[in-house]
Formats: sequence, structure tokens, C-alpha cells
Amino acid sequence: MNILVIGGGGYVGSHLCLALKQHGFSPTIYDLACSDFLWELLGEPHVILGDVRNFAALENVFEVYRPLAVIHLASFIDVRESSLNPLKYYDNNVAGTISLLKALALHQVRFLLFSSSAAVYGELPSPISEEQILKPINVYGRSKKMVEEIITDFSQAYGTSFIILRYFNVAGADASGRLGEMHEPETHLIPLAIRSLMKQGYPLKIFGNDHPTPDGTPIRDYIHVSDVADAHVRSLRFLLEGGRSSIFNIGSGRGHSVLDVLRQIEFYTSQQIPLEILPRKALDPSSLIADINCIKETLQWEPVHDLGSIVQSALRWHHACEKALL
Ligand code: UFG
Repeated sequence: MNILVIGGGGYVGSHLCLALKQHGFSPTIYDLACSDFLWELLGEPHVILGDVRNFAALENVFEVYRPLAVIHLASFIDVRESSLNPLKYYDNNVAGTISLLKALALHQVRFLLFSSSAAVYGELPSPISEEQILKPINVYGRSKKMVEEIITDFSQAYGTSFIILRYFNVAGADASGRLGEMHEPETHLIPLAIRSLMKQGYPLKIFGNDHPTPDGTPIRDYIHVSDVADAHVRSLRFLLEGGRSSIFNIGSGRGHSVLDVLRQIEFYTSQQIPLEILPRKALDPSSLIADINCIKETLQWEPVHDLGSIVQSALRWHHACEKALL
């Protein structure tokens, strides 16, 4: 079964393609760039370099591969950058999706998964369920909310079944240690904390210890990337078996503060992370925890990895990268 994974060359996409292969699907990636791991895993004909906004190139890929379903992960994700350069985000994330949906309509693809974000919620009391009214507080979150609305309208007009997956804080790495989290520039807590242990002179900046949380640092819901990949595979099967269009939170349902996360890293490394306490960042919610009852009941999906497993897998990946550089 041919599955087209738009934006599949990145962190979540790599883990997803591995899971799709393991479950007997045949993924093809269309992305701006792609790791060596994926070239090896999928083989050259299944990796196509291109921009989601390039409708002619995209349309040609649909013509050649005739996908049964499309999984759409192609988006820019840096919240801070989205406020500095909103047009870049609306152009890629929103206009890019419209280009993709035109290709879906033309080729009558009936099934679509879209990776959205907890950023659509803004600052709501936790745990947050899918029924909450969306009040995004940054351009990135607004671009995801717009795309969710466009996909819903598109589905009604063209009869496409969709699942929207709202990711909370995706982290960790595949157990093999061959793929993991690496963004450029890196903004995420776990990779930055590990980097500050590995490189001298890079203390971890903590953005505020005066939040209204038990230890004063922000609470997030960390979910292992392999659990996220599994949620996609289950969502895809659900749609292919006739399941209804749905929106699901993808989180663990548990909250951990920044200091909880750092303590876990220190526990597994027996090292102390150098810290620098800075003022709170603007628009950095104090607490974001998912209510995951909906996906649990509908897809019988439940995360199998806890924070300890996330941290251990991230450490394995960073050590493997360090060795490769020696
Ligand atoms: N943090 C630090 N120091 C750092 C990095 C992060 O204190 O060097 C803090 C942040 O302020 C935040 C928490 O650690 O409170 C987690 O930060 P991340 O950058 O790992 O993740 P965010 O919760 O800020 O953002 C994530 C995704 C976004 C998405 C958002 C949804 O990375 O793409 O969740 O709310 F939009």
C-alpha cells in the first residue's frame, strides 16, 4: 500500500517511515531534505526532494506513485521565528497545504493524516481535551489552526476522510540509536539539556522559575516519538478500515516540569547540568497536559514509553552522534 509522506524527511517523519515499513506499508517521502538513514531504509525511488508549494512537482509525484493515503507533516515549527517572520509560516504551512489538497482532489486520494500541534490550544487549563475552543497565542499555532479548518472544509466538499493529530511535546529516539532528534537551530529542552552536558561552556538556560507550578518551572506533556509514530499507523489503519474523520491529542496525559526533566537526565548520566536562570519567555504557557481519553477509546492507543525511557533513548542517540563525529 503506497503511502505518501509529505515532509517525511525530518525527525517525526523518519520514525514514522520506519514504523510504516515495519507494518507492511510502502512509504514514499516528499521533502526538502532527507537523512542518510531514510535513503537507506526506503531506497532512492522512494525519496523525492521537493517543496510542498511546488504544485507541478507534487502533482507529478501523485501521478507516478498513486498513493492510497497521504500523511502531511511538512511545516515550519519554530514558534519564535513564526512571530518574527509570519509570512514564511503562512506561506509554507497554510499555502503549502492548499497546494497539497489540490493534488489530493485531482487524484481522488480519500485518506489524509495531518500533524497538528498543542499550539492550537494556547493557554488553557490542563488536561486539555480536543473539544476545547482553540485560542492559539502565536503565529505557528494559528497556522496549524487554519490548516485544521481548511482540511475540515475540504473533507466535507470532497469526501476525504482525515485524522488530525495534535502533538504535545515529542521527544526521544528510536531504540536502535540510528535516528533521533536534531533540529537546526535547536530550541527543544531535552536535546539542549544533553548538549549542555556534552559541551563545556553551554549552560542550559531556564526560561523562568516563577511560573505558578510546584517548582516554578513550566510543565509539559512529553511523548516518545515512537509512540507518536505508532499513533499514526493506528490512525491510518482506522481510516482505511472505514473509521470516521477525527481529531486526537497525542500526549502521555502526564505533566513534567523542566526541573523534572533535568533531574531525569542527571539521574541517567550521573552528571550535573550547568544552569542559567533567565526571565520567563513571553507566551510560554505554564502548563500543557493532554487529555488522551479520545484516542485511547477510539484507537486503543496508549503510550508505552515514560519520561525515563524518553530520556534514555535521547541520550543513546546523542552519544551515537558524538561517536560518529570522532
Ligand atoms: N525550555 C527552557 N530552556 C530551553 C528550552 C526550553 O527552559 O533551553 C523550556 C521552555 O520554556 C518550555 C519547556 O522548556 O517551557 C519545553 O520547551 P520546548 O522548546 O522543548 O517545547 P515547547 O513546549 O516550548 O514547544 C513545543 C513544540 C512546539 C509547539 C509547542 C506546543 O516544540 O513546536 O510545544 O505548545 F508549538
